[in-house]
Amino acid sequence: MNLVAFSGSLRSASLNTGVVRTVAELGPALGVTTTVYPDLGRLPYFDQDRESSGPPVEVLEFRALLAGADAVLISSPEYAHGTSGVLKNALEWVVGGGELVDKPLAVVTASPSMTGGDRAQAWLSETLAVMGARVIPESLPIPLASAKIKDGRVTDPVTLDALRGVVEALRKSAAETGTVPWT
Ligand SMILES: Cc1cc2nc3c(=O)[nH]c(=O)nc-3n(C[C@H](O)[C@H](O)[C@H](O)COP(=O)(O)O)c2cc1C
Repeated sequence: MNLVAFSGSLRSASLNTGVVRTVAELGPALGVTTTVYPDLGRLPYFDQDRESSGPPVEVLEFRALLAGADAVLISSPEYAHGTSGVLKNALEWVVGGGELVDKPLAVVTASPSMTGGDRAQAWLSETLAVMGARVIPESLPIPLASAKIKDGRVTDPVTLDALRGVVEALRKSAAETGTVPWT
C-alpha cells in the first residue's frame, strides 16, 4: 500500500510531525510504503480566483501526491479547539480537485493535553467526510503526547501499537475500495 502522510504543524519540534515520522518508519514491516509530504507551509493561501485560473505548481504537486495515494494519514495539532490554519488551507485546495474522494484516511491528533486534540479530530473528521474521504473509525487522539513522543519519534509502546492498528485499518479500507489487493 502506498500511504501519503503529513503533519498539520510547522513547528520544528512538532509532536505531530513525530507521529508522521514514526508511521513512515513502521510502514515497511506492515507492507506499507509511506511518502511524507514535508511542509504544508509550501502551499500558498487558498484563493478561488487562483484555483480557477490554474493552481500554483506547489498545489498541483500536492494534489498529484494525494491522487496517487492508496490511503492518507494526517496528524494534526489542536489549536483553539480547531485544526491548524496551514492544514485547513491545504484541505481547501483539495476540495475542488476531489483527490480525497473515497480515499481511506486516518486522522491522528497529538496534544500535550488530557484530551489529545479530540475536538480538532472531530472537526477534521467532519470536514474530511464532507470532502468525500473515507475517514476510518480507528483514527486516534494521543493525549499527554509530550510524554509519549521523544526526540521526534513515538516511544510509548501502547501508542506504537495503536498506530500499527491505524495503518492496518487503512490497509483493510484500501483493500475494500479496491485500490490494493488484500494480502
Ligand atoms: C495557538 C495555540 C492554540 C492551542 N490550542 C490548543 C487546544 O485547543 N487544545 C489542545 O489540546 N492544545 C492546544 N494547544 C497546545 C498544542 O496542542 C501544543 O502546542 C502541541 O504541541 C502543538 O502540536 P505540535 O507539537 O505538533 O506542534 C495550542 C497551542 C497553540 C500554540
